[in-house]
Amino acid sequence: MPTGSLPAGLLERLQEPGRVVFLCGAGVSAESGVPTFRDAMSGLWARHRPEDLATPDAFRRNPLLVWRWYQARRRQVAAVQPNQAHHALAALQRELPGMTLVTQNVDGLHERAGSTGVLEIHGNLFHNRCRECGHTTKVADIESDTPPACPRCTALMGPDVVWFGEEIPAGLLSAAWRAAASAKLFVSVGTSGLVYPAADLADVARWGGAAIAEINVADTPLSASADFVLREPAAQALPSLLNALQLRLPARSAR
Ligand code: OAD
Repeated sequence: MPTGSLPAGLLERLQEPGRVVFLCGAGVSAESGVPTFRDAMSGLWARHRPEDLATPDAFRRNPLLVWRWYQARRRQVAAVQPNQAHHALAALQRELPGMTLVTQNVDGLHERAGSTGVLEIHGNLFHNRCRECGHTTKVADIESDTPPACPRCTALMGPDVVWFGEEIPAGLLSAAWRAAASAKLFVSVGTSGLVYPAADLADVARWGGAAIAEINVADTPLSASADFVLREPAAQALPSLLNALQLRLPARSAR
């Protein structure tokens, strides 16, 4: 696999001891064919507005509508597969003990590719959350038309995703913040960097002394100030990075 396109110095940074943070966005799942929120609002859903489907108010007003929308999203995502970007990130996690994977994606594809401990700051479509008591469960059935009752407090459970007008759970955000603040390298992958507070994480990392790398097919507000830029699809750049790293690592007998 060619590794010549990697910017000089990036591999050295990756190999130094210390923490590496990858912040992922929708671009990581692009090659899996995960429809964006807006792309998915087609057909029967085209007559709805995002605020009818993805806000706490919408769920209070019409829980069945919101539930059915998220069940449809779940079925779409369940039908696609993790791509080479997800697989490379899972393998990088095994190579780099100090790696933290933060994702804005709610599709659960990192986990399906074998990543563990992912900080899913916008939630996970395949979990339910009770907005009354905070209890979360795994989704058992992506077909049922009615939301389940919370086993703890009996309120209706909704999807465990951060809706418009909601905040990222404090524990998750502070874990991502701490990781960024102590990173030696922060890699932004497939995110436009327009949604806050996720977009602040690169600045937090930079103030803490990290080098900043970006993997994206297009320019973003981060591009001009990044130390390393890989202007390539994530499913190409991440396997190249993994491959180059493995070539440089001393052979491990356990591998
Ligand atoms: P965006 O849709 O805003 O941006 C996707 C980014 O991926 C863009 O910068 C593209 O250039 C880039 N991109 C597309 N295909 C790519 C590929 N194959 N390889 C690399 N990069 C590629 O998505 P996010 O930045 O993830 O929020 O948006 C963040 C949040 O906005 C989402 O989590 C969601 C949304 O509203 C919530 O759900 C709260």
